[in-house]
Amino acid sequence: MTNKGTHAPPGPKGLPILGLALAVRNDPLGTLQRLAREFGDVVSMPVMRMSRVLVNRPDYIQQLLILDHAKLHKSTLTKLVVGPLLGQGLLISEGDFWRRQRRLAQPAFHRSRTNEYSPVMVECALERMRNWRGGETRNIAEEMMKLTLEVAVRTLFGTSLAGDSDSIGKAMTFLMRHYLRRARTPWRVPENWPTFANRRARREVEYMDSLIYGIISERKKDTRPRNDLLSLLMSAMHEDGSQMSERQVRDESMTLFVAGHETTALSLAWTWYLLGENPAAESRLAEELRSALAGRPAEVSDLEKLPYLNAVVHESLRLYPPAFIMARMNVETVTLGGYEIPPRTTLLASQWVMHRDPRFFEQPEQFLPERWLDGLEDRLPPGVYFPFGDGPRRCIGQGFAQLETALVIAAIAQKFRFRLRGGFPVVPEPLVTLRPKYGIEMSIESR
Ligand code: HEM
Repeated sequence: MTNKGTHAPPGPKGLPILGLALAVRNDPLGTLQRLAREFGDVVSMPVMRMSRVLVNRPDYIQQLLILDHAKLHKSTLTKLVVGPLLGQGLLISEGDFWRRQRRLAQPAFHRSRTNEYSPVMVECALERMRNWRGGETRNIAEEMMKLTLEVAVRTLFGTSLAGDSDSIGKAMTFLMRHYLRRARTPWRVPENWPTFANRRARREVEYMDSLIYGIISERKKDTRPRNDLLSLLMSAMHEDGSQMSERQVRDESMTLFVAGHETTALSLAWTWYLLGENPAAESRLAEELRSALAGRPAEVSDLEKLPYLNAVVHESLRLYPPAFIMARMNVETVTLGGYEIPPRTTLLASQWVMHRDPRFFEQPEQFLPERWLDGLEDRLPPGVYFPFGDGPRRCIGQGFAQLETALVIAAIAQKFRFRLRGGFPVVPEPLVTLRPKYGIEMSIESR
């Protein structure tokens, strides 16, 4: 597979034919960490006779995401898993088509525009809290999913889908598990065979489609000027004066909707879990919020005066990065650390692995927001901490997500704190994103 002169990058042999497939299936996160620790910067990972290479050195990761960006596409695995729902949206489109679409969507994510959405973000947090009572127990992961879904729908589409949030949640969980299972299986039943799972997957995609197309067609009838992302997408023009087709507006809207609400909800949910397990950090955060805000919700201009809040968000994204791995496939040979990696190899860089690497973080498994207070981010070599990716395909919604996360935490942490329900198993499940497998059941305490 890969050559360094006559050498391939080191790595385990794994089982005949299966390679590491079982280890990856049984314990994906642990397997990635173990491989990095045992085999170093560039590791061959045989999985079902397919060539995969895990890259664990910051400058090589930078090379993949920035320098050699043009030689790499999103991996086949990524496309198989998210393609059926997201179509040719920004997350997986390639080449000139991707570049044109990115250019078209970029202005919608300009900081000044994103900041305009901050009242909606705060309002959604306040509305969600209105249902909560001290002493009750809730699945905080589900609560955060409903909250960010409402933010996404209102800011993207200028409407509400509150009544659909349970069905959307169920559809997304089913589709992620279904397509990931398919993508990992070499002997796939064709998608058009009427198995139970295939029929349900089709129904769920149709359901999501009906929501998005419904909103688009309503919007076409309503010509009042609007300030949401959908109207920007629908009116955006390419340099030659052409506009996106309806299908393209659907794919981009679905991509922004799915990529935007799911990841942000996870970031919030993991943050509440970590704060609940670390009462000293939680008290320090509450004290910072109390003295800066005295009970009122935060505004954009407050955020620079809340360094500990910022550190908590950084530390949560370090330990539980919602995007825990990035996968690429090289379309031409790439030379990495002296190894020649032939085309069509899947190259992996994992936030989960790098963010917990003891070469760069002291006590890497501990939740220590303080570590970010003295300029650590600037001292870290690029390619170590990349919760939003890097290079030309860096997350377009980074500013949006950071704003939403900070405003929501500031609003909620002033009113409530959460404690994990005794004995509740919190198990990270690495699907497309890093989800808590059974949710996160927490008791709610009023402040
Ligand atoms: C905490 C929240 C978020 C995290 C951790 C996150 C993470 C990421 C990462 C790692 C990538 C790069 C993937 C790769 O290169 O393979 C990415 C891309 C992307 N994200 Fe996010 N994201 C978040 C929130 C958002 C939001 C709020 C939106 C939109 C409203 C969004 C939309 C996108 C899109 C469209 C891309 C593809 C960009 C492109 O390839 O041009 N994300 N995100």
